[in-house]
Amino acid sequence: MKHTDIEKILKTDEFVGKEVTVCGWVRTARDSKNVAFLALNDGTSLNHLQIVIDKNSDISVSSEAMKLGASLKVTGKVVKNTNNSTNEINAEEIEVLGVCPPDYPLQKKFQKLETLREMPHIRVRTNTFNAVFRVRSVLAAAIHRFFQERGYVYINTPLITGSDCEGAGEMFQVTTIGYSKDYENEEDYYADDFFGKKTGLSVSGQLEGEVAAMGLGKIYTFGPSFRAENSNTQRHVAEFWHVEPEIAFCELPDLIEIAEDMMKYIIRDYMEKCPDELAFFEQRFEKGLKDKLLSVVNNDFAVVDYTEAIDILKKADVKFEYPVEWGCDLQSEHERYITEQVYKKPVFLINYPKGIKSFYMKQNADGKTVAATDLLVPGVGEIIGGSEREADYDKLIAAMEEKGMSKEGYEFYLDLRKFGSVPHSGFGLGFERMIMYCTGMANIRDVILYPRTVGNIK
Ligand code: 4AD
Repeated sequence: MKHTDIEKILKTDEFVGKEVTVCGWVRTARDSKNVAFLALNDGTSLNHLQIVIDKNSDISVSSEAMKLGASLKVTGKVVKNTNNSTNEINAEEIEVLGVCPPDYPLQKKFQKLETLREMPHIRVRTNTFNAVFRVRSVLAAAIHRFFQERGYVYINTPLITGSDCEGAGEMFQVTTIGYSKDYENEEDYYADDFFGKKTGLSVSGQLEGEVAAMGLGKIYTFGPSFRAENSNTQRHVAEFWHVEPEIAFCELPDLIEIAEDMMKYIIRDYMEKCPDELAFFEQRFEKGLKDKLLSVVNNDFAVVDYTEAIDILKKADVKFEYPVEWGCDLQSEHERYITEQVYKKPVFLINYPKGIKSFYMKQNADGKTVAATDLLVPGVGEIIGGSEREADYDKLIAAMEEKGMSKEGYEFYLDLRKFGSVPHSGFGLGFERMIMYCTGMANIRDVILYPRTVGNIK
């Protein structure tokens, strides 16, 4: 269907005085004796295009064209509105492509986000979700560009896997048969299943990412990860998109530099490409969003040792729900205190106790901590998790044994330490959390088209 994007008509003057055809959905309709106005949106722009209908002309407009949510094809001349000098169309012909009856759920101007969550197939037609998903697309492109410009190879790692990368037992099982009493034990059951062994959906592409980095040097993945975490929070979904660079010949300080550069690059690109969306989010969802992001791109992130963070938390004049002791896993309330109250900017926490981190992290000389880092940001908390990897074969085996892991299924991973092992590092950025940070959306369910959470699959 030949037509012009509304964004082009609004953003440039090349169509002023010319006849164009546009398509879109009616967002608002106003009727009076001599003239009617429609606000049309086709998804290419946050702003609507005003269609002016001169009722004294010979244009015929069906009443269906004036209904909220109806889809239209409109032909007419582009003119400048004399009051606000935005471009609009004087309609000459209006065709109703799809009628929209009064039970269309978006009749009220502002609906609660919770209500909209109940209709993921409809909410994309609101300003909020229109903006969220356009920003999501811009952020994804920026991530690819950041890595591509720096010579990283884009890798697609398997989604079905036999190894639980994080070792946290949060894998969704993949099976084509149900367990029954006919099996004497679990082994017999798995042997009968599709792959002949226990398999699940990948929680992270890291292990295979390391395989790729050991030949290609610098790689990144950008795909879904799955976690069967039973946590009904505003920052967890069971299916999230994960950006995972893995870099050979790279130690923890180098990794931190890459992560900071990446964050700044993506934010800068977003601010440049989406000024309308940014202003919208600032107005509707987070006062000070623009200043926050500007300050992120213009200032250094903090780097703080876990041990120092524990000291800060212990001295804090705050009653935390979860007590703090060296060795404890930091809860969201602790992370947010550090980044929001103390440093008021993004913070790389480094050198965590080895007991609370994954088996693959490089063991520090102190014998107690690992060269790990989490990036904490105000408002969201942990947005990145990463580490230098243990490159020493014997130390890796020892860590696996300490955590009671079997070597089965990890032979390939151990081989990487056998054949020309090198210092290497990587991190995982939660893409939805990045979108939350950039938009001020407080709930992760509002930045992904179909959120998957415990007990909820629409
Ligand atoms: O800290 P995580 O668990 O690290 C890993 O998976 C490493 N294998 C990454 C690596 O080194 N290549 O997860 C990384 C990030 C988190 O910081 C968070 O932003 C996001 O992934 N994440 C989630 N996002 C939404 N919902 C969930 N359930 C998430 N779990 C992790």
